[in-house]
Amino acid sequence: PLRGRQALRGDLLDFSATPAWAALDDPAVRYRPDHWLLIDADGRIAGVQAHEPDASWQRRDYRGRLILPGFIDTHVHCPQLDVIASYGTELLDWLNTYTFPAETRYADPAVARLGAERFLDALLAHGTTSAVVFPTVHKVSAEMLFEAAAVRGMRLITGKVLMDRHAPDALRDDVAGAERDCVDLIQRYHQRERLAYAVTVRFAPTSTPEQLAMAGALCRADASLYMQTHVAENRDEVAWVARLFPQARSYLDVYARESLLHPRAVLAHGIWLDEQDRRVLAASGAQVAHCPSSNLFLGSGLFDWVAAREAGYTVSAASDVGGGTSLSMQRTLADGYKMQALGGRRLTAWAALHAATLGAAQGLGLQQEIGAFEAGTLADVCVWDWACGPVAQARDAVVRGLHERVFAWLTLSDERNLVASYVAGVPRFRRDPESEPT
Ligand code: GUN
Ligand code: ZN
Repeated sequence: PLRGRQALRGDLLDFSATPAWAALDDPAVRYRPDHWLLIDADGRIAGVQAHEPDASWQRRDYRGRLILPGFIDTHVHCPQLDVIASYGTELLDWLNTYTFPAETRYADPAVARLGAERFLDALLAHGTTSAVVFPTVHKVSAEMLFEAAAVRGMRLITGKVLMDRHAPDALRDDVAGAERDCVDLIQRYHQRERLAYAVTVRFAPTSTPEQLAMAGALCRADASLYMQTHVAENRDEVAWVARLFPQARSYLDVYARESLLHPRAVLAHGIWLDEQDRRVLAASGAQVAHCPSSNLFLGSGLFDWVAAREAGYTVSAASDVGGGTSLSMQRTLADGYKMQALGGRRLTAWAALHAATLGAAQGLGLQQEIGAFEAGTLADVCVWDWACGPVAQARDAVVRGLHERVFAWLTLSDERNLVASYVAGVPRFRRDPESEPT
């Protein structure tokens, strides 16, 4: 449906550049309290202004609320909503005990369709408007995600999972069939609307060297393709990879040798890397999707964010549900703060929020489309309550300074604070449709 021009009034917060690691006061932070965000009829941001626009704009008054760019979750598993919060295991046992059985059900197109719709609606209800997503090995699971994202107008990057060994029969493909499925999905969905294809290697242990070579050939043939995988998450996993690939220098090197590291590659975790790996990552332009909730829940380890900054590769933030225990990016980032604290470091609210917005967008090469309130980008925008409930409200009433306020919001808020999510200017989630401002 055609929509008029809209103007959203509230406290606008975004970034114009990368904030310095430890700075509480940083010129890259753009806070414009009680401003208007102007959205053109085509769903693109027209600009930001302090004064009320004229009546040719449909005005939506979110005064006293926080307005942020929609969050970007750079690593999350659609079929794992069914196993979120599963007790008692580390990565390899968790995969075998919970995850693989749940993924088996996605061979059924009806399960895949309902799962994709429920998953994307849940992202929008958590303030996440863009995501890099793992479906399952089944071609239909990727198709259903692409179709459901297109209906919602969302920026979505996904691709059929490649796994041809060390998995149950019902979750294994083979090199030739997988290549056919990838080629067909790329033709049908890659760069259609806001969709893009990611060559999706689950992780090194579940692909034969032949399948890794096929994945690398796909990436070499089309530099616009994304690549997503897992790397160096868990110590037992790292040891297993060393046994499976004795000729590789490191876990990361298994991917490097097959030309899977490039500027559109997203590698989840990256905990157990060495200095040589960090140099290789930085030179490749690939990004690490840091998943603190998952790393703590599965006992995987502590991510060294400072070493990543020093090496110079992009770190984005990711929920990694169902290893992670919430789709909320605030909860994810609050866990990120606590993880850095365990290492004697402090993560500012600015570094955290940047990693879930503009930083992720830049890492994906999508800063012309998402990540900040820049004119010409698509209006993926979320409106948040500054505080819900007596504890957060009492805290918010006594904060001193902007960083203190935003940090308390990040630590105490979650999806219950979400008032509305707009995707390309269209409201796709509203908490209280009756009392929405017009
Ligand atoms: N490594 C391989 N597969 C997975 C997965 O599904 N989740 C996580 N956290 N790590 C993995
Ligand atoms: Zn994962």
